[in-house]
Amino acid sequence: MGKIGIIGAMSEELELYLSELKNSIQSEISTYIFFSGKLAGKSVVIVKCGAGKVNASVCSQILIQGFEVDSIIFTGVAGALNPDLEIMDLVISRDCMHHDMDAEALGFEKGQIPFTDFKLFKTSEKLKKEGLGAAKKLGLRAIEGRILTGDQFITEKEKTDHLRKNFNGDCVDMESAAVAQVCQLNKVPCVIIRSISDKANHSAHIDFAEFAKTASKNSFKIVKEIISKYREAKKEVMSSDIIKSKIRTVFDWPKKGVMFRDITTLLKDREGFNHMISLLVDRYKDRNIDLVVGIESRGFITGAVLANRLGTGFVLIRKSGKLPAETVKEEYDLEYGKDTIEIHSDAINKGDKVLLVDDLVATGGTAMAACKLIEKLGGEIVECSFVVDLPLLGGKRKLEESGYKAFALVEFGGH
Ligand code: ADE
Repeated sequence: MGKIGIIGAMSEELELYLSELKNSIQSEISTYIFFSGKLAGKSVVIVKCGAGKVNASVCSQILIQGFEVDSIIFTGVAGALNPDLEIMDLVISRDCMHHDMDAEALGFEKGQIPFTDFKLFKTSEKLKKEGLGAAKKLGLRAIEGRILTGDQFITEKEKTDHLRKNFNGDCVDMESAAVAQVCQLNKVPCVIIRSISDKANHSAHIDFAEFAKTASKNSFKIVKEIISKYREAKKEVMSSDIIKSKIRTVFDWPKKGVMFRDITTLLKDREGFNHMISLLVDRYKDRNIDLVVGIESRGFITGAVLANRLGTGFVLIRKSGKLPAETVKEEYDLEYGKDTIEIHSDAINKGDKVLLVDDLVATGGTAMAACKLIEKLGGEIVECSFVVDLPLLGGKRKLEESGYKAFALVEFGGH
């Protein structure tokens, strides 16, 4: 089961979410704090984006690319444009538009992104229906509607009338169309749940200050209901998706541009660690493995536990100079330069069936060198087994193209 990204612009809009978030892990990316955890039993990533379209766009893209959420819910408050809406009512998005996008001078319609056909960004039909169903169940007044977005806080009646008359908007805010646009570009479903905090008129700033917090409660109730229903619809199973959700992504580590997939958060999670090992035991228990060979250093953790559960011995492949007895060595290429790994010469007997284990396969350089070491000693490689594969870096494919079987429990995009 996938993850839902939840975005709000202000702390008031997210307070309730964070207070109910279980097993919370924080990651800071580009100054935004992302909270991963469980809400209503579902994996979510929550972020306060701050006001305005740039903030909302950046956070949406990070949720999609970095956290690999499979849908986004934007939650918070808005100013009413539809005269039927009262403070505390809800608007659940059908579509969104940038009301401040104006390239009429270039021959484009107001709201249209110049040189594209984009103007109205449709949001998820399914999530909208779930939102409306949730509102009904909770006895909250809600309509489906059009949300207009601009980098402006609207307080003038003439502007409000103009937005209603020309764009048929139901409410106005400063983020939704940006989220919907990013989601459309990435083909990720999204929905916006806005509760009315003011009527976008001369007293909007006063009403906003007074009602933003209480109005946010209504959005929260709907979002929570959508999330828990989603869980009911898709029965939760301890699958590899759960393993994936427990692996933390550390951005710009060990150097800028790298998204480091950190399995320490999976290892410290009793259920996650146990489940990971169980999946591997199930896969290899009937394969007549004689030895598990782990690659320094995280391959030692999964490899040793797996060997013990499979009832086999465990062998270490280490960086050069760390093994005390006689060794055989293999050199391999790094991005800049070379490195060497080695194994004790007596670690493997000719004909031993060997399972090679590491935490992650990237370019596959170390794993290829490890395979050569095992074969130098006469071992037969049953499979190269990883927790994480980074398919964009091609290591698993390279192993397969060289004739080795390779397997990974989860895949992550990016580097
Ligand atoms: N969010 C809440 N009220 C708003 C308003 N009046 N204008 C823009 N964004 C808002």
